[in-house]
Amino acid sequence: MVRRQLPQPAELLELMQFKKPELNATKRRLDSALTIADLRRIAQRRTPKAAFDYTDGAAEGELSLARARQAFQDVEFHPDILRPAAVVDTSTEILGGRSALPFGIAPTGFTRLMQTEGESAGAGAAGAAGIPFTLSTLGTTSIEDVKRANPHGRNWFQLYVMRDRDVSYGLVRRAAEAGFDTLQFTVDTPIAGARLRDKRNGFSIPPQLTVGTILNALPRPWWWIDFLTTPKLEFASLSTTGGTVGELLNAAMDPTISYDDLDVIREMWPGKIVVKGVQNVEDSRRLIDRGVDGIILSNHGGRQLDRAPIPFHLLPEVVREVGRDATVMVDTGIMNGADIVASIALGAKFTLIGRAYLYGLMAGGRAGVDRTIEILRTEIERTMTLLGVSSLEELEPRHVTQLTRLVPRGTTAAVEA
Ligand SMILES: Cc1cc2nc3c(=O)[nH]c(=O)nc-3n(C[C@H](O)[C@H](O)[C@H](O)COP(=O)(O)O)c2cc1C
Repeated sequence: MVRRQLPQPAELLELMQFKKPELNATKRRLDSALTIADLRRIAQRRTPKAAFDYTDGAAEGELSLARARQAFQDVEFHPDILRPAAVVDTSTEILGGRSALPFGIAPTGFTRLMQTEGESAGAGAAGAAGIPFTLSTLGTTSIEDVKRANPHGRNWFQLYVMRDRDVSYGLVRRAAEAGFDTLQFTVDTPIAGARLRDKRNGFSIPPQLTVGTILNALPRPWWWIDFLTTPKLEFASLSTTGGTVGELLNAAMDPTISYDDLDVIREMWPGKIVVKGVQNVEDSRRLIDRGVDGIILSNHGGRQLDRAPIPFHLLPEVVREVGRDATVMVDTGIMNGADIVASIALGAKFTLIGRAYLYGLMAGGRAGVDRTIEILRTEIERTMTLLGVSSLEELEPRHVTQLTRLVPRGTTAAVEA
């Protein structure tokens, strides 16, 4: 028998404590995003197709990117039980300085195309969160303006060595003068990868208006208002002659760059130097032996050689080869704080996020980048707590198994035999 009573007004009132509606539309939108994938969906709604596809897309069949993301999803974690970790410390020492979180913002070209605040939003958000920001050679904000946006935090500069060496050397000097502390020397771009979405969209710099772009613009007025009412969108460090991003890259890049260039740049650069785009064990060994301060295992977010090795899969072997003391970093495919925790457990000292940051930027400018960092921070803290570790140093390879779907043929043959 259920005992019934008349509804109590006091109890009813308690149930009727409605939350105050959030009047700030940007905040409301960003608060509704619980994951980076949510930010991506908001970004897609708000950004013209050509700009969104330039960011979201990768090279050829986009297999490198899909595999890298899948590899993170195929992580199996092994938690320890009854190890209280009420407070977790997510901070780490990287390249001679602190970072509040084990990730930084990766260099991305043409960032103001995604949302007009561009690199300033990224640098400001990184500074506020206590993590490093990297400005690309193909950035749309000058070295000095990035310094202004992040005056007290850590700024890193990414270098493409171009056919005209003096242009590159000039940028290295300016970045050093502005107090940037680390140089990322990108080596996976002898020519541009085939970004088919850009070709299909007729995407060019500066953007061209067609009937298609105008129709696509109608539901995305804010992007266009921003675009038309803020300073002209252009490379801050290079002069452009027009064309697709691939064509511009091909005109600027030099496919003959070599270890000699690395030596020249090292001579010129007073800070730390790391090589970005390393994709095998032998090159990792060679670079560490040559005395670089670190390497970034990366396939450029799948935007260069499609079907390139998955950087996260290379990690254990590379760390075994160069030792846990060497600074090995990893990027490509990170969409969740748990991906970062898994990378640190397998020996990475640090990670970089490219698209995760840009989805936030497109979803809400500076506040959107803050949201990206907040989502990743929460996921990192939660994953560490559930694993039973209270600091990044406690993460070990035993915490992670990389489940593999794609096994090299020789291995399956051996199993079948
Ligand atoms: C839109 C876009 C532009 C990029 N531009 C550059 C660049 O100018 N220089 C560079 O070294 N890497 C560039 N990258 C690669 C990133 O630095 C990073 O390696 C990659 O985004 C990591 O993968 P993720 O996007 O899955 O995090 C770019 C990536 C994206 C998505």
